[in-house]
Amino acid sequence: MRRNGNIIKRSVGWFSVFLCVGLFMLGVFMVGQPSGAQSMEASDTLSVPADPISFQQGPGSAIASSYCLICHSAEYIYTQPPHSHERWTEIIKKMKHTFGCPIPDEHISPLAEYLVSQNTIQPIPEAKKFTGLAHIPTRESGSPEKGKAIYNTYCLNCHGQTGKGDGPIGQALIPPAADLTATGNKSDTILLNTIRNGRPGTAMPSWKSDLSKQEMEDILAYIRNLTKS
Ligand code: HEC
Ligand code: HEC
Repeated sequence: MRRNGNIIKRSVGWFSVFLCVGLFMLGVFMVGQPSGAQSMEASDTLSVPADPISFQQGPGSAIASSYCLICHSAEYIYTQPPHSHERWTEIIKKMKHTFGCPIPDEHISPLAEYLVSQNTIQPIPEAKKFTGLAHIPTRESGSPEKGKAIYNTYCLNCHGQTGKGDGPIGQALIPPAADLTATGNKSDTILLNTIRNGRPGTAMPSWKSDLSKQEMEDILAYIRNLTKS
């Protein structure tokens, strides 16, 4: 039945054919909703697409992209229940003070206003993404080249040349140093958190007093490259 829906999209002339086939199918299967008919109207009525999505452009959207995408997907924000300006303000302040979202105070009110304006809007699919967003850094991105140098100084002894956890002392540890090439399915936030705070109960040290945020981002970019190769 889906095939019929695609044919009709290509040519309006097929409409009558579709109608006949559609009615026929409906009769045969006695299904409440023929999917062919659905796909004709679907584009306007889709709710939350599975694709990655971004913030809809508008006053304040750049703030949301800069400070909320550090930890959340835009979809996560769009699928929140509608909130008042006061409630969004509270949430943003909680993100700032409890979770460390680096949003400056003067951006809180404009962002709350933006989020209220998005309360009833569905997320937009990646394909329709406002291309200008690409120029707004959602986070300081890391340099794998710089990351490599830092990695070789601080991490190689345990995690090894290729990141597999086979550095000179990596395998002797209990538990052994982690195989960083196997971290592809872990989020940036989680890995950065482990680098920043270490892993209690293992030899993985906390790096927060030795490395800057940017240096950790650089190492992360390098680790991501190791994962790919
Ligand atoms: C540093 C990470 C971080 C940043 C940045 C961040 N959040 Fe959160 N956010 C969290 C965590 C952690 C939770 C709690 C998730 C849970 O309880 O499961 C959360 C939860 C939420 C919730 C759920 C409701 C609630 O009160 O717990 C909303 C809504 C939310 N964030 C919105 C935002 C918005 C809007 C921004 C941008 C200003 C933002 N977040 C930035 C970490 C972050
Ligand atoms: C003294 C040894 C040692 C050093 C030095 C070290 N690590 Fe680790 N690392 C470990 C151990 C041990 C683990 C935890 C293994 C486990 O949990 O089973 C670990 C875990 C990790 C993880 C988590 C991997 C995962 O799968 O969640 C990351 C990321 C990581 N290290 C990055 C680094 C980076 C980046 C550096 C350098 C800045 C570094 N480590 C330096 C020993 C070390």
